[in-house]
Amino acid sequence: MRSTRVLTGITTSGTPHLGNYVGAIRPAIAASRAPGVESFYFLADYHALIKIDEPARIQRSTLEIAATWIAAGLDPERVTFYRQSDIPEIPELTWFLTCVCGKGLLNRAHAYKASVDKNNAAGVDPDADVTAGLFMYPVLMAADILMFNAHRVPVGRDQIQHIEMARDMAASFNHRYGEHFVLPEAQIEEAVATLPGLDGRKMSKSYDNTIPLFAPREQMRKLIAGIKTDSRAPGEPKDTEGSALFQIYQAFATPDETAALRQAYADGIAWADAKQVLFERIDHEIAPMRDTYESLMRHPERLEDLLHAGAAKARAIATPFTAKLRHAVGLRDLRAQGSEKQVKAAKAALPSFKQYRESDGQFYFKLVDAQGKLLLQSTGYAAPKDAGQAIRALQQADAASAQFTPADGVTQEDVVSALHQLRDAA
Ligand code: TRP
Repeated sequence: MRSTRVLTGITTSGTPHLGNYVGAIRPAIAASRAPGVESFYFLADYHALIKIDEPARIQRSTLEIAATWIAAGLDPERVTFYRQSDIPEIPELTWFLTCVCGKGLLNRAHAYKASVDKNNAAGVDPDADVTAGLFMYPVLMAADILMFNAHRVPVGRDQIQHIEMARDMAASFNHRYGEHFVLPEAQIEEAVATLPGLDGRKMSKSYDNTIPLFAPREQMRKLIAGIKTDSRAPGEPKDTEGSALFQIYQAFATPDETAALRQAYADGIAWADAKQVLFERIDHEIAPMRDTYESLMRHPERLEDLLHAGAAKARAIATPFTAKLRHAVGLRDLRAQGSEKQVKAAKAALPSFKQYRESDGQFYFKLVDAQGKLLLQSTGYAAPKDAGQAIRALQQADAASAQFTPADGVTQEDVVSALHQLRDAA
C-alpha cells in the first residue's frame, strides 16, 4: 500500500520563536520520523509575498526558517524539504484550480472576509487595500497540497477552512477531468501546547511577545527574565495556575522535572530563581541546535544546495504529474489528436520493460518496443528489487545520460526515444 503523505508549508514571513518550535516544528519533526509516512515540508515564500513587500525580509526569513528546521533535526534525506518558488509547477496548478474554483468560495474565505468587514466598518470601499493575491491565497495553498496528493495536512485551527477549500477545488477538478487528486484532510494537533509569550498571552508575532528560538544565549536569558510574573516575594508560595513561566517550562521538561518545579513553586521559590531554572532547561535543549543554526546562517550556500536537492526530489513528482494534468485539461501536443479511446490504444502500443528470472537464478529485465522487438537487455541482478531499481533509474535519469547497452542492431537513439515515449505517456 502507498504510504500516507503528510505535507505542510511554513510562510517565510518571520523569525521562528519558541512558540513555533513547541507548537509546530518539534512535533512535525517527530512525526516525520514515524514509519509509513512520506513527509513534505516546504517554505511557502510565494505566500509570504502576499503579506510582505520588503524583499530583504522575505530573503532573511527564508534563510532563518530553512536553517531552523534543519538545526531542529529535520532530515532532508528522509523527507522532501523544498522552497515553494523552486517548483514552477505550483503556479501552473494554481491556474488550473483557479479555473475550477467558484469565486463565491473565495468570497467566503475568513481572511478576505475580515478585510472586507474592516473596510465596511471604516466606511471605505469594501476591497480597499485588498490585493488579488490575498483573495487567491486559498487557491495557491490548494495547489501546494494537491500537487503532491497529500492525505494529511498538519495545520493550526485557523487554517482548517483552507483545507476544506482545497478539498472543494480537488473535487471540482476531479469531477470535470477525472480522478486526479486525493481529497486532503486537516490534521489538528490537539495535544501540543500553545505557548504563552512574555506577557502571558499566546506567544505570537502579532503581540510582539515572542522569544526567538535561536536568540543568542545571553539575550535568551534576558528575555526569559522579562517574562511577566506576579509580585509574590521570595519565600511566598506561588501559583502554577496561570503562570506563563511554568507553562513554558512544562513544554520543555519531563514530567518529573515539571513535578519538581511545581514543588518549588509551593515552597516559595524566588521568581528570579525560577527564571534561571527555566533558562537552563530551555538552553539545555536549544544550545546544540543553536550551534548548527549559527553555522548554517554563516553558510547559506549549504542551505541553497539542500533546497535545490529538495526541489529536484519534489519535481520528480510535480513535473510528470503536471504533464498529466495538462493533458487532462486539454493542453496537449497537437500531433496527438484523438479520442480517449485512441489515447488508450496508443498506450498499448508503447515500448515496455519486462522482468524475468533466468535458470542461473538471477533477475533480468529487457526493454522491448511495441512490436516486441528487443531494444535493450540487462545484466543479471541478485534480487528483483535491484532489477526494479535499475529500471527506475533508466526511467528517471535523463535517458541520454543513463548507462545501457543497446541490443544488436539497435541504436542508442532508438533506446532513448523509446524511454522518452514511455516517459511522455506516464
Ligand atoms: N497558510 C499556511 C499558514 O499560514 C501556510 C501554508 C501555505 C500551508 N501553503 C500551505 C500550510 C500548504 C499547509 C499546506 O500557516
